[in-house]
This record gives sequence, C-alpha cells and structure tokens, in this order.
Amino acid sequence: MKNEDVAKIYSKYVMNTYTRMPLSLAKGKGSRVWDLEQNEYLDFFPGWGVSVLGHCPPKVVSHIKDQVKKIIHVSNNYYNHLQARIGKMLIKITRIEGKAFFCNSGAEANESAFKLARAYGKGEKYKIITMQNSFHGRTLGCIAATGQEKYKEGFEPIVPGFLHAPFNDIEAVKKTIDNETVAVMLELIQGEGGINVADVDFVKELRKICDNKNLLLIIDEVQSGMGRTGEWFSYQHYGITPDIITIAKGIAGGLPMGVMIAKDKIADCFKPGMHASTFGGSPLVSKAALGVIDTIMKKKLLKNTREMGEYLKSCLIELKNKYVIIKEVRGIGLMIGVEVEEKGKEIFDLCFKKKLLINLTHGNILRIMPAINVSKKEINKAINILNQVFEEVVK
Ligand SMILES: Cc1ncc(COP(=O)(O)O)c(C=O)c1O
Repeated sequence: MKNEDVAKIYSKYVMNTYTRMPLSLAKGKGSRVWDLEQNEYLDFFPGWGVSVLGHCPPKVVSHIKDQVKKIIHVSNNYYNHLQARIGKMLIKITRIEGKAFFCNSGAEANESAFKLARAYGKGEKYKIITMQNSFHGRTLGCIAATGQEKYKEGFEPIVPGFLHAPFNDIEAVKKTIDNETVAVMLELIQGEGGINVADVDFVKELRKICDNKNLLLIIDEVQSGMGRTGEWFSYQHYGITPDIITIAKGIAGGLPMGVMIAKDKIADCFKPGMHASTFGGSPLVSKAALGVIDTIMKKKLLKNTREMGEYLKSCLIELKNKYVIIKEVRGIGLMIGVEVEEKGKEIFDLCFKKKLLINLTHGNILRIMPAINVSKKEINKAINILNQVFEEVVK
C-alpha cells in the first residue's frame, strides 16, 4: 500500500475533519518516522505534542507489553493499583496538595474542570473567564471556553457562562469579574494561539486576585505539561500554585489519557455519581504514564529540555538575524514559535518536502515542539533544513 492508496480509502470512509498531509505514517522511533513507502522524516511536532518522549519510547513500550498481558481495563467502580500509583506520582510532581480525576483527552479534562468549578460555585457562581486567543478543545464546553470565534462558528448556541479577556491584560480581567464569576482559566503558553507566553507579573497578579476574590485559578497544561517547557508543568516557571490543572497529550506516551488535578477542598466538591469516565485511568494507560514519568526522571529530561530548548532557540535566533522574513522567535523550553512576516504556508510545505515535520498555526507561526529527549544532532539537522527552506523562500 502507498500513501495515496490510504488517502483514497479515507476519502470514502473517514470523516473529513482534518487538513491532512499526503503522508501515511507506519513506523516511528524517537524523533524519526517512516511512511508506508519507507521515506524517513524528522518529526519536530510529534503527534501535536503527544509523543513527548518521541515515538515508541522503550520504557513505555515495555510497560505496555507487560501490562497488556495482565489486565487492560477495569471499571472505575473497582480500585486499580496502577491508577493509585499514577495519582500519587502526579500529586508529587505537580506539588499540588490535591487529588486527580482520570479521563481520556485534553477536552475531557477541561470539561471535568468546568464541572468541578461549577460544583464549587454551588449554583451561585458559575462564570469562567478565559483568555482571548486561547484554545481549550473541541467539545461544546471547550469551544465556549476557547477565546477564538472561528472554533464556535456553526455550533451555536454556545454554552453560556464563558467570558474572554485579553491575554496578559490584568485590568481587563479585573473588569470582567463579577459576583457570578467562579474561575479564571488560561494556558500560560498559548499553543494553538501561536506560542504566546504569559507575563510573570500578569500571572502573579492573577493569583493574588483569585485569592482575594475566592476565584479558582485553572491552568490548562494539556500542551505545556509533562516536561515540555523544562519544568514538569509551565506554572512551575511562575512561582505560583494553581487551584486546578488539566493534563493530557504527552502524559501516557501516546496512549489516550487526560487528567484533572484539583486542590483537596475543591476536589472534594465532587461526590460519587457527579462525574465519571468509563475508560479513565485504566491499568494500561496508567502503566504507560508511569513509564513516561520514570523515563523523564531517570534520563534527566527536564534538564535536557532546558538545554536543548536554549540551543534550539539560539539557532533559530541566528536564522532570524540572517532572514528578515523571521519576525520573532519565542517560547519556553521545547515549546517554540517562529513568527514569519509572510509565506508561512510556503515555508511549512517546503519543510515537509525536505522531510521535516513541524506545525503552522494562524498561517504565520511555525510551531516547533520536538520530543524532549531530542539531541543536538537532530536539532542541527532540523536547523539545516530550515536554513535551506528560508534561503529558497527569500530568493
Ligand atoms: C491547551 C490545549 N487544551 C486542550 C486541548 C484539547 O486536547 P484534546 O485534543 O486532547 O481534546 C488542546 C489540544 O491541542 C490544547 O492544546
């Protein structure tokens, strides 16, 4: 079978909800992937941030192989020692004195956070303020929370209770709060929004306001969590502790897992029967997630992310100094955006042609998020391709 044969089958049998590249990936190892025709690609946007340890990380593979023979799924009406272990481990690395709820995706983790916030508000307070240009997922609740009109169009009526304030504008957030507000929610690095980094002062002030007004501070760590920024979670760069966080993407090394973590007094607003997720925290995904955390710890990958992030950024800044078409290089750790003045799609397509996989958001921001165990050699290879691409587009 060839790439185009797969595309033909998709056109007849799979819903047309994604813009797809003409590529059918069949194998992956670390930062490299191969298509059905044995072409090799360098993957600097593995699974939209899911494959945080690259493809098929050995420890995760061995954990999955081992667990799949024992038991794959159990009902959440029974205890499961692997969910207990991953819950305890997450509380340790988040440094939030609280509890976890397990589900299967970022959107589901965020929906869980919305429900918990409303439960905390006891029917009196229910409004959640989110940021303009944010992205929180595709369910009806999540598109209401997302601060971008394009995701809401055609799906009206929009779930009520979500208001948007400009990112990094503390006065605007203050003005949006009223007596019915229960929470403020944000990504500290807007991913889909174009790698926009929250200001330290803004975040610290937001924490203070939430404390003073008894509002919950919810941080969406779906894309920025699990070591992506050089800390376990992005809020750990800001010296604050959120009340609720949501995690997904990289947490189980490619298996679907979502988690919402809340401080005890908030978490305890959920009583049996108020929320559930059939697949959430199964033994198989929990074991995979334990493998991810173990790998990040043993291989010192937070350090690698900081070092490789700095290195990648410095190489990209060198390119910026060479090509005026590059407007800005920004991000934290290995969550990097390169904003170009023009020709974003052309650059993205040329990278693809030269077998470098990255992402393009908002038409002019190249999103580069390699696996956190990426090597200097792999970064050099990617930079070399980018250099050739920029040379071609500015000709
Ligand atoms: C910050 C953020 N929140 C939520 C989501 C939604 O996650 P999922 O696609 O797993 O539902 C995403 C997905 O890209 C995201 O980047």
